[in-house]
Amino acid sequence: MTSPDAPVSGATAPVDPTTTPAWEALEAHDAEISGSLREWFAEDPQRAVRFTHDAADLHVDLSKNLVTAETVDLLLQLAEQTGVLARRDAMYAGAHINTTEDRAVLHTALRRPAGASPALVVDGQDVDHDVHEVLGRIADFATKVRSGEWTGVTGKRIETVVNIGIGGSDLGPVMVYEALKPYAQEGLTARFISNIDPTDAYETTADLDPETTLVIVASKTFTTLETITNARLVRTWLLDGLRAKGLTAEQEKEAVAKHFVAVSTALDKVAEFGIDPENAFGFWSWVGGRYSVDSAIGTVLSTVLGPEVFEELLAGFHAMDEHFATAPAEQNVPLLMGLLNVWNVNFLEAETHAVLPYSQYLHRFPAYLQQLTMESNGKSVRWDGSTVVTETGEVFWGEPGTNGQHAFYQLIHQGTRIIPADFIAFATPARPLKDGEQDVHELFLANFFAQTKALAFGKTADEVRAEGTEGALVAAREFSGDRPTTSIMAPALTPSVLGQLIALYEHITFVQGAVWGINSFDQWGVELGKQLAKGLAPAVAGDESAIAAEDASTAGLIRYYREHRA
Ligand code: F6P
Repeated sequence: MTSPDAPVSGATAPVDPTTTPAWEALEAHDAEISGSLREWFAEDPQRAVRFTHDAADLHVDLSKNLVTAETVDLLLQLAEQTGVLARRDAMYAGAHINTTEDRAVLHTALRRPAGASPALVVDGQDVDHDVHEVLGRIADFATKVRSGEWTGVTGKRIETVVNIGIGGSDLGPVMVYEALKPYAQEGLTARFISNIDPTDAYETTADLDPETTLVIVASKTFTTLETITNARLVRTWLLDGLRAKGLTAEQEKEAVAKHFVAVSTALDKVAEFGIDPENAFGFWSWVGGRYSVDSAIGTVLSTVLGPEVFEELLAGFHAMDEHFATAPAEQNVPLLMGLLNVWNVNFLEAETHAVLPYSQYLHRFPAYLQQLTMESNGKSVRWDGSTVVTETGEVFWGEPGTNGQHAFYQLIHQGTRIIPADFIAFATPARPLKDGEQDVHELFLANFFAQTKALAFGKTADEVRAEGTEGALVAAREFSGDRPTTSIMAPALTPSVLGQLIALYEHITFVQGAVWGINSFDQWGVELGKQLAKGLAPAVAGDESAIAAEDASTAGLIRYYREHRA
């Protein structure tokens, strides 16, 4: 790895991957490659072992992907020729690889252990010191809330923590909270408000007692319309509720101080909102929103799950960072999985990628990954402004197994499109339950094993006939196989393992972006809609001349709204 002191440039020109010898070789290989997963497994009894790697506690079997040893070798050459690992080192060292915003990309610094050596100093900032100073403040705050030392304004203990945020200030916290629910302190729960649809704030607070509710306003910029609007709605709800219980005008400031804390990189804006900067936890511009669950954005997690759980989560992230930084390329799981995605997208023409956790606790993991992957790699220009000449970010989607099996797996098994899928499962159940003598987790895992087997090896027409089927039904019951999957297993869904999983996907996303030459750390594509929404306010409020100035479709829709609102 590059030493943190070494001069590193984020402005290195991106390599057009299609001009590399490796790309050319991959194209030739793609045209020539023959065989099937059935044949490859039959020919090479070592295939599963050869293509299975451990990364920290994750056991990752890549053998059911549509690759041979030669494919992987060529993909590793592609990584070399597009400078993926040099860019990784630049990122870890704090180079401004987010060129369009001229920022370092240092989410990996959020999980470096205290006292890591050599210290990470970037742009004059002692990053390790600042990260651990904030972590310490969050842990102190969380401990006070958890012990009952921190109370609401009427002296009652906090029972519900409501996190208000959207995008990266919501999806990560929600996903981790749902995944690690068994670790929540009894009597303390988290809720989340994100949507500017007022029903979200209404439904989330409807049955809450303001006296026992603590609100965390989480926004990197503290300017996001949804979050600031929801924060104001909830402040009104809280103060109205407390007034009904006798709160006086003089006590309002204290009520806000006791019931509202903030997480942001813009502490001046937090103060403008009326939240005491003493009750604010900061982070830095070098943490992207979708990479921020391990920053102060995780304050809700530290509070409800406990600072030790949050620490363990960070340690898991760090273990995967270390693996990505140091494991040899041919065993480096994020590198290999990122390259397999490039193979699937650019050579096998996959348009989407399913992530299928066999864990109900991970039910928000696919939604979390959608922002991580698609806001990062949904780009058409490279980091120097030139247009890409290959397809880039695929659509990520998914649902937990086995629910998905009874919904969309049909298309993965027998549809006309190739849909690479990651299957995730844990050896130890979070809730071991038995149905009579039957261990239900074993039933669950049998489904996990069966699906990747069916997708890989299918069922031939002869096999269908051998089961007694005849005629037109044979084709309908045939499975082609050769549907690529990756299986990820771990001993249990612990905080550390969850951190490892999240970091794994962060780095996979990074690898794909690096091969394509795109900046995975900006998100200009979300700006136009935000800008137009602001500009449309007068028309939506009924200003006829503003409506008439809109295009015919937009004007028609606004008029429909104006005529039909009750
Ligand atoms: O609009 C997109 C986005 O900027 C995301 O990248 C971000 O996670 C989300 O909005 C929320 O932003 P903030 O944390 O600044 O409120």
